[in-house]
Amino acid sequence: MTKAIRIHVNGSPDVMCFEEIELSPPGPGEIRIRHTAIGVNFSDINVRRGSIYLTAPPRFPMILGNEAAGVVAAVGAGVTDVEVGERVAYAGVGGPFYESTGAYAEERNVPAACLIKLPHEISDRQAAALLVKGLTASTIVNHIFQPRPGQTILIHAAASGVALMLCQWCKHVGATVIGTVGSPEKARVAAAHGCDHAILYRDTDFVAKVKALVPTGVDAVFDGVGKDTFLPSLDCVRPFGMLVNYGNASGHVPPLGLLLLAKKGSLSVARPGFHHLFSAGRTLQSVADELFKLVAQRVIREEIRCTYALREAAMAHRDIERRRTIGSVLLLP
Ligand SMILES: NC(=O)c1ccc[n+]([C@@H]2O[C@H](COP(=O)([O-])OP(=O)(O)OC[C@H]3O[C@@H](n4cnc5c(N)ncnc54)[C@H](OP(=O)(O)O)[C@@H]3O)[C@@H](O)[C@H]2O)c1
Repeated sequence: MTKAIRIHVNGSPDVMCFEEIELSPPGPGEIRIRHTAIGVNFSDINVRRGSIYLTAPPRFPMILGNEAAGVVAAVGAGVTDVEVGERVAYAGVGGPFYESTGAYAEERNVPAACLIKLPHEISDRQAAALLVKGLTASTIVNHIFQPRPGQTILIHAAASGVALMLCQWCKHVGATVIGTVGSPEKARVAAAHGCDHAILYRDTDFVAKVKALVPTGVDAVFDGVGKDTFLPSLDCVRPFGMLVNYGNASGHVPPLGLLLLAKKGSLSVARPGFHHLFSAGRTLQSVADELFKLVAQRVIREEIRCTYALREAAMAHRDIERRRTIGSVLLLP
């Protein structure tokens, strides 16, 4: 027996139950992992709410979560490259990232093929805080819009998990970072991660503020907020610039008429998902190793200040929905 956070219906955080579950031994090609740190992602909230596009209807009861780190507790038949006691992590276990959930648990079985081996200098908590957020930032800056010295990038919700990675990455390559944030405390954290100008966008018109700072417009916007920021962001971009929408914390963006992009300055719009990193022949381990190297070089660092006991996962979801969290959120079994 082990314990997990399960939902039996979609709904508010009240549907999240901490329950005992049966766990069978790992099957062929699988390992059992004893979780030590579980990454919370906004997609967990969307899955819980029932507001994400799953390729199949949800099957209840469902254990939430897609990202965690821990120790190999048992190996199934045919697993030869991972040993009991090794420290490993994963970010998704096959299919679209947010499907095949099951991370909000003390232990689970996962395919050995989806594991990342952790180097000794990366702690379990670091890995669980870093992988999804860092892989998303990597997708954006390496494959969608590569920031360069002298450019200016507007990053929405700059103190959020993914955006703090983006701020550091943009700053590292010599770009100027403008960040929108929901509170003065978030502005301070964003500044400590490379944000040059923080705009309190709940109190002020961010478009006017951006135009005052960069009258010709920013080179790119990195937007994980979606519904509330997407359309006004088009007015912040210079001609031929780009708006990268990678998330929808405030809701899905409205349908976009392509002609609007011509009117606003021959703009481009991209909507990346990090799982496509692996369709170009990259392995999860190789992309993760790049991230670990950036951590070792102090280019990026994870911000872990919001941790919750696994049994308190509903509280973590409520705090995220109330926009109270900063950086990466972890559940600790
Ligand atoms: N495309 C991909 O592959 C990919 C991968 C990972 C995540 N994502 C998406 O990226 C987005 C951000 O992820 P994250 O992990 O950085 O999120 P997060 O750390 O939970 O932060 C979300 C932030 O969004 C802002 N926000 C604005 N309106 C909000 C609302 N109505 N409810 C809640 N928050 C709101 C808040 O910051 P302020 O208080 O500063 O406004 C909040 O702290 C999510 O939509 C997530 O699903 C996409």
